[in-house]
Amino acid sequence: MEDWEEITELMEQLALLGGNPVRTAPWPRWPVFDEREEQAILEVLHSGHWWRHSYGQGVELAEGDEQPQSMVARFQRAFARAHDCQYGICAANGTVTLEIALRAAGVKPGDEVIVPAYTYVATATAPLMVGAIPVFVDIHPGTYTVDVQRIAEAITEHTRAIIPVHFGGQPCDMDAINALAQRYNLVVVEDAAHAHGASYYGRKCGSLGALGSFSFQASKNLTAGEGGIITTNNFDYAEMCESLVWAGRRRGEPWYRHYVLASNARMTEFQGAILLVQLERLAEQMEKRTANALLLNSLLSEIEGVEPLSILPSTTAHSFHLYIFRYRPEAFGGLDKQRFVQALQAEGITGAFAGYATPLYANPMFLEKWFMGGPWPVDAFAHGQRINYGDFAELCPIAERACAIEAVWLPQTMLLADTQAMYDIVAAIKKVQAHAHRLL
Ligand SMILES: Cc1ncc(COP(=O)(O)O)c(C=O)c1O
Repeated sequence: MEDWEEITELMEQLALLGGNPVRTAPWPRWPVFDEREEQAILEVLHSGHWWRHSYGQGVELAEGDEQPQSMVARFQRAFARAHDCQYGICAANGTVTLEIALRAAGVKPGDEVIVPAYTYVATATAPLMVGAIPVFVDIHPGTYTVDVQRIAEAITEHTRAIIPVHFGGQPCDMDAINALAQRYNLVVVEDAAHAHGASYYGRKCGSLGALGSFSFQASKNLTAGEGGIITTNNFDYAEMCESLVWAGRRRGEPWYRHYVLASNARMTEFQGAILLVQLERLAEQMEKRTANALLLNSLLSEIEGVEPLSILPSTTAHSFHLYIFRYRPEAFGGLDKQRFVQALQAEGITGAFAGYATPLYANPMFLEKWFMGGPWPVDAFAHGQRINYGDFAELCPIAERACAIEAVWLPQTMLLADTQAMYDIVAAIKKVQAHAHRLL
């Protein structure tokens, strides 16, 4: 009897304070692979074609082209088609794809590019890398994707582009964004780094703007460790992207002819080979993530003080790169988010994460305008000199609140676990809530 009481007490005690965790079972391994990836890599290895252009192929653009031999070329075609696009151009990562997409779209030094305040650094460094000026706008409280009203307010005579981020895997309000772009003659480059397979009213992310940019970095829903792709339905953009990935060369032209300032952003054949197999896994994984996310949505609705982000009617497929819920400390006795997340991790919900500690503009790079040898390009233009990145805090209260107080992230890999794991997440939250006062 005494033993039983001791066990019950340990179960009830928070793991952070020495009790037993809710979950001890491991989380799914990521990335997922088997002998198919192994075979694909070996095929490249033995072929000796480790470099895509050893096949002499440029961007395979036409529908009627034969099946290319290059793994990268095959993958970019398959990925583009799976994302309602005619063209796909692979690159080294999802940071350079944004830079290249902006350049292909004609964004020039001094142009302003509107980006959300709640995003990964590359969304805003891509404009800087092409000499343009990132202008931050707030996110919508229900979805954490960019608030279109705030975009409208931020447009000036210098605005040239908008980069909506399908944050966490939920498509932005693209009809409204495209309508603004049309009205003010702006280009839309989708940052779809989180949105493999996601769709908006049945149309795939990556096909909704002028160009789309995806990442295949290790944490992403489709990965080769590193990598990225630009998607588009515009032939001229596709050709320019290919050239910008490939040192400014042009397809069909001599090797030592360079037409435009460009870097080397090529993907290797090994990455292409892995991605071809990973792409075949995407649909099934997506189905599992979605089922678990919807289950979590319904289970969490029973707990006061945690509220999943809304799923919009326009979201016909959500990729759930992140499962995000809003945490309200008041319902947990005032326990702050960081401590709440620590307690969840201790309960065995090891992937729980508090997300960005601040909105992007609050990073020293922006506050101090430490860009290219100083404040260039921003201060090189009279309109840029007026920008003080410290001022965005007042303009972006939702992003500020998400970072400091509310947003809790569960990564996509957790959604690949079995149903029991979702119940464990909920049990852990309830347990932390019941004992929150002990952590204050
Ligand atoms: C929203 C967003 N955009 C762009 C990127 C950049 O991708 P990569 O890590 O492949 O450079 C990331 C990566 O985390 C991201 O989350």
